[in-house]
Amino acid sequence: MPSPAAADAAIPYGTLPPASPPATRKPLSLPRLADMHARGEKIAMLTAYDATFAAVADAAGVECLLVGDSLGMVCQGLPSTVGVTLETMRYHTESVFRGLHRVQGTAWLIADLPFASYQESREQALRSAAVLMQAGAHMVKLEGGGWTTETVRFLVERGIPVCAHLGLTPQTVHALGGYRVQGRGDQAAAQLKQQAHALQDAGAAMLVLEMVPAALAAELTAELTHCATIGIGAGRGTAGQVLVLHDMLGLGSGRKPRFVRNFMEGASSNLDALRRYVAAVKSGEYPAPEHSFS
Ligand code: KIV
Repeated sequence: MPSPAAADAAIPYGTLPPASPPATRKPLSLPRLADMHARGEKIAMLTAYDATFAAVADAAGVECLLVGDSLGMVCQGLPSTVGVTLETMRYHTESVFRGLHRVQGTAWLIADLPFASYQESREQALRSAAVLMQAGAHMVKLEGGGWTTETVRFLVERGIPVCAHLGLTPQTVHALGGYRVQGRGDQAAAQLKQQAHALQDAGAAMLVLEMVPAALAAELTAELTHCATIGIGAGRGTAGQVLVLHDMLGLGSGRKPRFVRNFMEGASSNLDALRRYVAAVKSGEYPAPEHSFS
């Protein structure tokens, strides 16, 4: 057993503890998340792209970590998520997994299937999902409704937990005409609801709702008893919330999206900011009406 000093010397950049403290909570799993959903306990999710922040988020009590393809913007400096490759997603998923593993992390790890890695066929989706699962993901996320339903069913039947994603789907930003609120108006709302129900029936255990009116998200959340909705710009009525890590740490440059709150304000450290985020999601204090769309 190396002395603490020797162990310190072995880690030149000191970002992760050399020995793991015992886990203070049980590992998150699909049944535990379903139980939280059934009990109405809010689920706190954040994006993570590297080992250090994965460990910090886990220590802060974040239940789900999403290796989002938003890494294209925040880590790679790309103009959208369209340029993110499966290999890049694999690299970051492995990094996050290692960060969790080294500190006996307990968070549920979700990885995004990037643009063009699942659209071709269900078989292509399975091959791409396998790459991310073998990198450490517990669940994969894919964007869109309608045509994705059979892909979700195919993956779920083969033992791959799936999170769906409706509303603003950034991989199709060019087809949508920009980063706009989705599901406004009776027809669009009805279509979104129909797609969400079909995804639940196909076995999706989670559904990210991005930039949709708060009332629509709350209605859907009440209707989807077997699929936990996770909102981002979808109001406080969803089963959980997600934000991009860099945004909630106030690191974004340019115009801040309406739904983002800077949790570094008043926080003493990154860990403290993440703890405040978890507490605000759990209590329903975040998101407030000013973070939501009607
Ligand atoms: O890529 C991502 O980070 C996401 C979240 C914004 C939900 O999909």
